Amino acid sequence: MSVNKEVKRITTHTLQEMKERGEKIAMLTAYDYSMATILGDAGLDVLLVGDSASNVMAGHETTLPITLDQMIYHAQGVVRGAGRAFVVVDLPFGTYQGNSKEALNSAIRIMKESGAHGVKLEGGQEIVESVQRIITAGIPVMGHLGLTPQSIYKFGTYTVRAKSEIEAEKLKSDVLVLQEAGCFAIVLEKIPAQLAKVVTESLHIPTIGIGAGMHCDGQVLVVNDMIGLTKGFRPRFLRQYLDLYEGIKDAAASYINDVKGNSFPNEKEQY
Ligand code: KIV
Repeated sequence: MSVNKEVKRITTHTLQEMKERGEKIAMLTAYDYSMATILGDAGLDVLLVGDSASNVMAGHETTLPITLDQMIYHAQGVVRGAGRAFVVVDLPFGTYQGNSKEALNSAIRIMKESGAHGVKLEGGQEIVESVQRIITAGIPVMGHLGLTPQSIYKFGTYTVRAKSEIEAEKLKSDVLVLQEAGCFAIVLEKIPAQLAKVVTESLHIPTIGIGAGMHCDGQVLVVNDMIGLTKGFRPRFLRQYLDLYEGIKDAAASYINDVKGNSFPNEKEQY
């Protein structure tokens, strides 16, 4: 892996300083080298190799099927393209829950084989032993609370989480547990904005929201949703900046026309 020495890479300390001076953190998912190159060049602070790759790259209904080897493959390309962005990789379902030794081994494989800069795990108190063990090995850990897609079959829906008092209290306690364990940041997914505000103010580490309102210290979106590659997915929290689905479809239709009408390639496009 070659490192451009002139590029000052974002670190966990940079992200901490950003929270302290009130500068928002911009994070997007990325799953391959080409997209990571564009996003790194655009100036993203953090690239997340999300296990949403299971949905948007592999076409699975949930994030559960993706494997550690597949996550490492995605992460390798992202790291090569990321530029100064900090690269975080999701530990996939079944590689860290309930067994902190396995969690550490999974995290070490990601760091060693992809060159990523940190890992993300879903859950609070239930996974704190795994979080601590990974951090003890010197690996930065990002937490993930609220809607945790790896537990979809426990909850049954992708609706807003922590609306009830009891769930909100559990979330407030879990963020503190993760901060105490040494997490450098926490993703808050699909929770009420007011709760995200309270939680963000209760922490000294940054929160990164997705569907968690404007008071988080940063925001993350799934890049395929944000550039309109995902057809028909328009939840309220998603701001779509491009319509690449239609753009690519139109381009493909023009190509088909050109090939079938013998206008591609023309004389200048041949040897
Ligand atoms: O896998 C993913 O894309 C994520 C984000 C939604 C935060 O975890």
